[in-house]
Amino acid sequence: MTEKELIDAAITARKSAYCPYSHMAVGAALLAKSGKVYTGANMENASFTPTVCAERVAFFSAIMAGEREFVRIAVVGGPEGEEPLREFPPCGVCRQVMSEFCGEDFEILIATRDSYHRLTLPEILPFRFNESYF
Ligand code: THU
Repeated sequence: MTEKELIDAAITARKSAYCPYSHMAVGAALLAKSGKVYTGANMENASFTPTVCAERVAFFSAIMAGEREFVRIAVVGGPEGEEPLREFPPCGVCRQVMSEFCGEDFEILIATRDSYHRLTLPEILPFRFNESYF
């Protein structure tokens, strides 16, 4: 699975976004060390706070399938019905969820259809709070 293929999987996942409130459609594709890919899209709610981001849908789907080790995640987002032209960085809550399950070599591809930035977990979440404090 190339980085471009992972981004394409995120673009496809984005079509499943349920986003009637923000009209921002987000897709994520998470590559596990097993080689399998788990996808997610944002799931909104009339009560707003139950909304779950695309990245967390992908992570929790992977965890439910028994995965515990991950390589990278691709994220695309933007106005519903439009091409993802602007890079859409993961929110702080999703970064913290990545921190729970991923090591320092985990990569985040913040992508559009044609370009992307590749960042490591410590780059997008420096000085992180994790299990080592327990
Ligand atoms: N959203 C994501 O899916 N991922 C992020 O990392 C940031 C935000 C979603 C949540 C909400 O449905 C919409 O984008 C607008 O915030």
